[in-house]
Order: sequence, then C-alpha cells, then structure tokens
Amino acid sequence: MLQTVSRTFFHVLAGSQVLKSFASRYGMRGQGGFARRFIAGEGVEEALLAARQIQASGLHITLDLLGESVSSTAEASAATRSYTGLMESMASAGVERNISLKLTQLGLNVDRATCVDNLRRILDAGVAREFFIRIDMENSPYTEVTLDVFETMWQQGYRNTGTVLQSYLPRSEGDAARMNELGARVRLVKGAYKEPKEVAYQSKAEVDAAFVRIMKLLLAGGTFPAIATHDPAMLAATRTFASGRGIMPANYEFQMLYGIRRDLQADLKTEGFQLRVYVPFGREWFPYFMRRLGERPANVGFVIRGILGER
Ligand code: FDA
Repeated sequence: MLQTVSRTFFHVLAGSQVLKSFASRYGMRGQGGFARRFIAGEGVEEALLAARQIQASGLHITLDLLGESVSSTAEASAATRSYTGLMESMASAGVERNISLKLTQLGLNVDRATCVDNLRRILDAGVAREFFIRIDMENSPYTEVTLDVFETMWQQGYRNTGTVLQSYLPRSEGDAARMNELGARVRLVKGAYKEPKEVAYQSKAEVDAAFVRIMKLLLAGGTFPAIATHDPAMLAATRTFASGRGIMPANYEFQMLYGIRRDLQADLKTEGFQLRVYVPFGREWFPYFMRRLGERPANVGFVIRGILGER
C-alpha cells in the first residue's frame, strides 16, 4: 500500500519541469551531489571509472546510458550514436562488454521501424565487438511491442541480446514460457513503474509470489537467467530453489542496481555467486532517479540531507 502511494507520488513529481530543472542543476554537482548515490556520473569517463572499480571487487557490470521516451528521429539517432560510441569506449577501456538500453530511447515512440533500425545498428556493432545487449522493460504500454521487437531480432539471428520481464505483470509467467522456448536470456525484476490494477498486481505479496514462480520457470527451463532484486527473501528463494535442483551458480546470475545494497552485493560474491551491477550514467538521469525514490520513501530523507549539505 505504502509503496503504491509512494510510486504515485513520485510519478506525479517526475512530471514536474520545475523539479527536473532544479534536480538537473544540483543533483550531480560536485562529488556530493545527491543523485550520485544512484547515478555513476554524467559522462562516459565517470561510468568507466565506476565500472573498473566494480570489476576490481570481483563483480560484473552492465552500463546503461540513461535516456528514454525520445520524441524525434534526430534524438533517436543521437542516442544510437552515443551507444555505439560507448561500446567503442568500453572496448578500448577493457571493461566488460555488457550494456542495457531502452527502446523508447531508440525511437519507439517515433515509429517502430526507426527503433528497429537503430537497435539493429547497435546489435551489429555489438556482434562485431562481442557485446551482450539487454533490452530493458519499460511501462506496460510497451511490454508487447518490446517483446515483439526482441523476437524479431532473435528470428533474424541475433543472439547477443536478451530482455526483461516484470513480476508485477500477471502476463509475465506466459512471457517467461515464451522466452524459454526461444532460448533467450531473461532478466527478472519486480517492475519499477506505476501501473493500473487492470494490468498489474498491486500488493507486494502478489508481486513477490509471482517473482518466485517466474524465477523457478527461468531457472528450470531458461537460458542463463538474471535474477535482479535486492530483496533478501527473493534471493533466499532463488538460492534454495537452485541448490535443490542442482543448478550451479555458473548457470545464472544475480543483478542489483548501482548504489543499492552494496553489502548484499559483496556477500553474494563472497559466497561464490555471480553478481552484476547495473551502472546508469548520463545527463538524462532524472526519470531513473525518481523511480529509485519511489521504490523507497526513506530515500527522500537521504536526498534532503544531501541537498541541505550541498547548498
Ligand atoms: P523491493 O522493492 O521489495 O525492495 C527490497 C529491498 O531492497 C528494500 O527493502 C530495500 O532494502 C532495497 N531497495 C529496493 N529498492 C531500493 C531503492 N530504490 N533504494 C534503496 N534500497 C532499495 N524495472 C523495470 O521495470 N524494468 C527494468 O528493465 C528494470 N531493470 C532492472 C535491472 C536491475 C539490475 C535491477 C536490480 C532492477 C531493475 N528494475 C527494472 C527495477 C525493479 O523492477 C525494482 O523496481 C527494483 O529492483 C526494486 O525492487 P526489489 O526487487 O529490489 O524489491
């Protein structure tokens, strides 16, 4: 209940231009900027630095060049060029070749063909440089089209890509079976957007129960699934199921977000599990940042302390 109210509240705030311009001005300013807890930086160099540090501690990374909902072909092309440039920088820097992106960043709202062309450019660059490219899942109006674009690329022979399913959507159990059948790699998450009750479970208990059901489907019948959560109960359920079935830690991975539950990230590594950190960076960090606040109201206190300390 609290989480639903909090998501609604932050969803409304996320639309505020005044707040956005205030946050954009101060959030990443200096090393103490209040958004830095969740965002690695605004530029590629800062992202590469964060990636190197994470890898040095034995964890894996995926880099996300933040951006979403672009409304012109020019912006979508610019995002595509930025991604191919990022891949070159990552390859030269010797960091792990793994990125995450969103289809609305590549022009899905402009038109599907533009988005598919842009995605193909990135996947081709990825094939040449041996990158894995994860297509993040956005809010429910994009679920079907995202899976559909993903399947189109899969049918065209691209295997250096995977997608994401959200346990708050009842449809995701069926989608997990669909992805297992393809042999595609899925990242399982609870879901970060404010969704209506017509399409999504609203209670934590239902979302968690679905998460466990889908986790089992993916571990038992999927291809190298990524179980992406900071929830100790979900982590424990995954570990128990995997060990009961004799599924070795080499056959799946856990994933967590940059700056969240670093203690658990380190513990899992120490216990012999694979843990990938999702490292977001870039100038368009405001919507991502607001989703992180919406997940945990306590984060607001942290931000306010950051702002008071900063100015
Ligand atoms: P839950 O929200 O129940 O939180 C469990 C515990 O984790 C909390 O008690 C707290 O300790 C900690 N925690 C969680 N969120 C926190 C926060 N913001 N700040 C501080 N502590 C926090 N979603 C989506 O819709 N599409 C996507 O493509 C992705 N991609 C993605 C990649 C990766 C690697 C991760 C880890 C997550 C995503 N998500 C996502 C986000 C996901 O849907 C979900 O909103 C968050 O992971 C929070 O859910 P938890 O599973 O952590 O559980």
